[in-house]
Amino acid sequence: MAAKVLVTREIPTAGTDPLKDYDVTVLGDGVPDRETLLEAASGASAILSTVTETMDAGLMDAAGSGLKVIANLAVGYDNVDVDAATERGVVVTNTPGVLDETTADTAFMLLLAAARRLGEAERLVRSGGWEAWGPMQLTGPEVSGKKLGIVGFGRIGQAMGRRARGFGMRIFYDARSRKPEAERELDARRMSLEEILSTCDFVSVHTPLTDGTHHLIGAAELATMKPEAVLVNTSRGPVVDEAALAGALLEKRIFAAGLDVYEEEPKVHPKLLELENVVLAPHIGSASIETRGAMAALAAENLVAVMRGEEPPNAVNSDAHGDAL
Ligand code: GLV
Repeated sequence: MAAKVLVTREIPTAGTDPLKDYDVTVLGDGVPDRETLLEAASGASAILSTVTETMDAGLMDAAGSGLKVIANLAVGYDNVDVDAATERGVVVTNTPGVLDETTADTAFMLLLAAARRLGEAERLVRSGGWEAWGPMQLTGPEVSGKKLGIVGFGRIGQAMGRRARGFGMRIFYDARSRKPEAERELDARRMSLEEILSTCDFVSVHTPLTDGTHHLIGAAELATMKPEAVLVNTSRGPVVDEAALAGALLEKRIFAAGLDVYEEEPKVHPKLLELENVVLAPHIGSASIETRGAMAALAAENLVAVMRGEEPPNAVNSDAHGDAL
């Protein structure tokens, strides 16, 4: 009998085609409720999950002792309890590398849109309220030649830096270790987070969500930013204190923000929804057709490798499989 594989959401066929040898259940297009998920997981050897599903101990126990792998369709895997998986000998994989350029595109798009007030401008045109070109209408800070601070200088942060170099920006970064190669390529300089916040014109956040990065940018940090600064977050919502950010934007303590991620998706802090100086995207960082296909294919490749007893390309807990591989 073919092993049971659960795919928690509808995904590009590049992700389901490689699973043809298995007994595959694909849940619908929407986010499955917890009960549906627990029921569908029962007896699964493998789960291909997305960021909207919480993969915790309860879910793993509902799947049962035959569960070998959770292949997450994302580079971030804060929705997966990796310790619980490791304890149960379940391999967890993610999809790094294939979404760097696309996610950096989104971050730079938000940076430009927030600086140049695109959301507000579009709302003006659509409302019929645009009366004429105006010499001071909808002006925002220039982007070219400004200082960009990149918080988290991994693959996506560096891809953001390459885009910024095309705009003649000066690059500063905060990372746990120095990145000499990227420093050379981008003429980038490492700085403390404090220095970045107090001196950069634009700050873009690219750290994973961990216990150490939760509310990394909170009220105290926002208070040190320049009034003309723009903050961009395409990493994970809880890295920024959303209520504190809404307060800073409301009181114009910073110029604007561009957000793709939120603390409690799909909820957005109600104050943010009312503000003109924030551009709000619905977690579309990696949403190009090509990249979503590549992510689905990579998630499936990881899943199949574990099922075959091979080393998957992207295990995040390579200590999990013990004798299984
Ligand atoms: C999406 O949010 C990802 O982590 O890939």
